Amino acid sequence: MSNQKATAISCSNIAFIKYWGNRDEKLRLPANPSLSMNLAGLETTTTVEFVAGLEADELLIGEKAEAGAALERVSNQLDQIRSKAGITLKARVESQNNFPAGAGLASSASAFAALTVAGAAAAGLSLSEKELSVMARLGSGSASRSVPAGFVEWQVGQTSEESFAFSIAPPNHWPLMDVIAVISKQHKHVGSTAGHALAGTSQLQAARVASAPERLERCREAVLAKNFAQLAEVVEADSNLMHAVMMTSGSPLFYWEPITLAIMKSIRAWRAEGLPVCYTIDAGPNVHCLCPAEDAPEVMRRLHENLDVKEILTAGPGGAARLV
Ligand code: PMV
Repeated sequence: MSNQKATAISCSNIAFIKYWGNRDEKLRLPANPSLSMNLAGLETTTTVEFVAGLEADELLIGEKAEAGAALERVSNQLDQIRSKAGITLKARVESQNNFPAGAGLASSASAFAALTVAGAAAAGLSLSEKELSVMARLGSGSASRSVPAGFVEWQVGQTSEESFAFSIAPPNHWPLMDVIAVISKQHKHVGSTAGHALAGTSQLQAARVASAPERLERCREAVLAKNFAQLAEVVEADSNLMHAVMMTSGSPLFYWEPITLAIMKSIRAWRAEGLPVCYTIDAGPNVHCLCPAEDAPEVMRRLHENLDVKEILTAGPGGAARLV
């Protein structure tokens, strides 16, 4: 086989119903189903080139050559692709994020979705969206949800082939906005892979997992009906439950900063006053403020003026991972 190259772009996503904890760590089979919105404009662009004669996989993130754990994780993902395509060539991978990595902005979701889509194409594989979602999941669970477009559900599944994500509504279904209060761009101390492994050590995890399908139903219904009040209530409850599990794990994980809680409380007060906005928080201190697009300017103004948030990113519903 001669050199083969492909480039893909994938959006990050924000979970409305969170994935936290695995039934199978190695296969990243989730403990519970989850539901998210792709984030338009928060993207990873990745080029994969299988190169004849290359001795080992190479990884460039931005301008920086990566080694160690980051490279190993990418190599493992390339191994999945190589074994499916029946090739042994090593690859050169170049990846670029247009947003800060490791700050709870789900860079691993867009990164592994883009890597999978580009890598499969470069290896000459022609895979369905479902197969790409399964494969992306093996790299990072939430990456399975960055493969399909818009509003996306990831079903638990009994086997690896059954654990994939699918679109429940296209990006133009509901002009929601994620107004992200960026509190810190620091790399998080405990990443999500280690976090998932700790989930089961919290006494609260079993209760969270048992009630997740019911929250997912309510969330799906709210998205399909564009019912913001119902969405707000279930999204905040689900985020609070995940953070309760994190904080009560054997080795507790506290991802919030004081400003994170201040924003959460303000958002609830603003909603009580009639401004449609709710919060959700991933494995980092940043606060994702969800609102109808028309209310985003007011949410941004209040974050800036009342809470002195200096950096704000905004993203509407994003499309599927795609080759360029
Ligand atoms: O895909 P991972 O292993 O980075 O896990 C993502 C975990 C959360 O972002 C906290 C929740 C989610 O469902 O995206």
